[in-house]
Amino acid sequence: MNTLVVAGSLNLDLVGRAPRIPAPGETVLGGSLARFHGGKGGNQAVAAARLGAAVRFFGAVGRDAAGDELLAGLVVEGIDVAGVARAEAAATGAALITVSDAGENAITVLPGANLEVPAPGDGARAVLRGARGLLLQGEIPLAANRAWAEAARAARVPVLLNAAPASAGLAALLPWVDLLLVNETELAQLGGSEAAIGTAGERGPATIVTTLGARGCRAWHRERTFAVPGVAVHVVDSTGAGDTFAGALAAALAAGRELSAALAEANLAAALSCRRAGARGGMPTRAELDAALAAT
Ligand code: RIB
Repeated sequence: MNTLVVAGSLNLDLVGRAPRIPAPGETVLGGSLARFHGGKGGNQAVAAARLGAAVRFFGAVGRDAAGDELLAGLVVEGIDVAGVARAEAAATGAALITVSDAGENAITVLPGANLEVPAPGDGARAVLRGARGLLLQGEIPLAANRAWAEAARAARVPVLLNAAPASAGLAALLPWVDLLLVNETELAQLGGSEAAIGTAGERGPATIVTTLGARGCRAWHRERTFAVPGVAVHVVDSTGAGDTFAGALAAALAAGRELSAALAEANLAAALSCRRAGARGGMPTRAELDAALAAT
């Protein structure tokens, strides 16, 4: 079974459209306000589930209506949420997002209950032992991420880290990471180049994938670099494109695909995801991605 474990964040996204992203101190008159289910952890779980992975999600929400709604949103996608904790005092996480007419975004995350995502207990460790991969991001506390990565390494399960948002703390996690996924900003924050990160210390990630927006992505694997070109689409909203890439890549690797084939799927899935509003709105299903792959 291609079980993928995702430990990470869940947010309610409040999204305002505006002609452009305001500069610091600037007020911009915008358009509509919408709410979507989000959080990098939840988004990546949904991207993987839509493409056929059996996803077990671990995270935390508040004891509030937003928490109920976000969990229901994962269940509808066929994701197992038995491992999601309910924080006693904190509210469910939220994100304030501005999307420009060009489809670019600026995001402020208010983590709330995501700060209470627990380390894996005995039940979660048992789930990990039967998994093909663990997918992590940077929106839950470093201590929790580290405990999850260590538990996966102990179970000989590959650890994929999407270092978003990047932080100095996340760099300390790299010895437990098998595949690191970053964008160009995060790459600069973590060490500047794939070779610098991958060859630093005794054990760094064997594979580093850098997403390049509309230019596609490149991968550094066993000291060899190769590129996957971008796919042109009409961009409505790029929010969640990185999450779609991460979930699709993890799902493809969990299904046993070679790295180059997995990257081609993730690259195309991320491009398709930009065609609709909301982080999860444009994430393709298996059938949609297969049709698009066949057409390329
Ligand atoms: O990557 C997009 C996500 O970042 C949004 O859904 C928002 O919740 C933040 O976590």
